[in-house]
Amino acid sequence: MNTVTGITPLRNATRASPRSIGDILVATGRLSAEDAARILERQRQDNSQFGDAALAMKLLTKDDIDFALSQQFGYAYLGEQDTSLSPDLVAAYKPFSHVGENLRAVRSQLILRWFDTDRTHKMLAVVSADKGEGRSFIAANLAIVFAQQGERTLLIDGDLRASPGKGQHALFKLGKGAGLSGILANRAGLEAAQLVPGLPGLAVLPAGAVPPNPQELLGRAAYSDLMQIAAHKFDVIIIDTPAGGDYADAEIIASRAGAALMVARKNKSLVNNTAQLARRLQDSGVALVGSVLNDA
Ligand SMILES: Nc1ncnc2c1ncn2[C@@H]1O[C@H](COP(=O)(O)OP(=O)(O)OP(=O)(O)O)[C@@H](O)[C@H]1O
Ligand SMILES: [Mg+2]
Repeated sequence: MNTVTGITPLRNATRASPRSIGDILVATGRLSAEDAARILERQRQDNSQFGDAALAMKLLTKDDIDFALSQQFGYAYLGEQDTSLSPDLVAAYKPFSHVGENLRAVRSQLILRWFDTDRTHKMLAVVSADKGEGRSFIAANLAIVFAQQGERTLLIDGDLRASPGKGQHALFKLGKGAGLSGILANRAGLEAAQLVPGLPGLAVLPAGAVPPNPQELLGRAAYSDLMQIAAHKFDVIIIDTPAGGDYADAEIIASRAGAALMVARKNKSLVNNTAQLARRLQDSGVALVGSVLNDA
């Protein structure tokens, strides 16, 4: 069986979900408290449901209401017959599996150690020293468990070197369109991020066309600008990276994010390589806020 191990769950670390639809939408910034009060008033007058009143008043979209309902009733997840995403997205297909549980434990640790320690802590790079250690797998599934908790989550594929058919584009079976490389070349904006049907609250920005100069693109002001805009629109931003031992890309991404989660693969990763990358990141001021021993 596939497991993601290496982190011990802590009690009471996840955020409690508010109860009413209005509360959920106000808490997640989709609705102002003032509008929520107006909807409640209309609901009382018409003796209707909160969602129906909000739709009639055009204060919410169906997507907002689906989002709130999935929060109210627990996790949004996909049936096994749904083939719209890769089966590797275990958090979406088998949220109650052992892997799902471990991912939620990692999420709790990250909230305690990073996201909840300062309001400006919104970004996290997922790094590892060598190829094929499971960075993309962990980044994608973590983004899903954050979205399932009600966080407005953006997953950015920062691996501008991935071969076609790999990376987040393949995992989320995204359509054609611009991606991170297009944004960095000033040919697109954050609207290139695609919402994931069936997983409310999650948007994925694919890497886009493979550019000849990834490292130089990531160093441009366009990258900092993008991250600044994203931080206004999302609560949690998870960034996938290429192998840290091969290029400086991961270091650039992690230092811009401020924090990184280190992935190592059981029986594969070399301790020296992982330790070396950890040192390099710490030297660039990156907080290493967690590590995952990926046991596939
Ligand atoms: N915990 C896991 N359970 C099952 N399969 C896994 C797990 N982790 C990784 N894999 C599989 O291992 C392979 C490599 O994983 P992934 O692509 O996530 O690694 P990566 O570090 O992003 O690799 P690359 O260097 O190519 O970007 C994929 O086929 C993925 O499906
Ligand atoms: Mg990858």
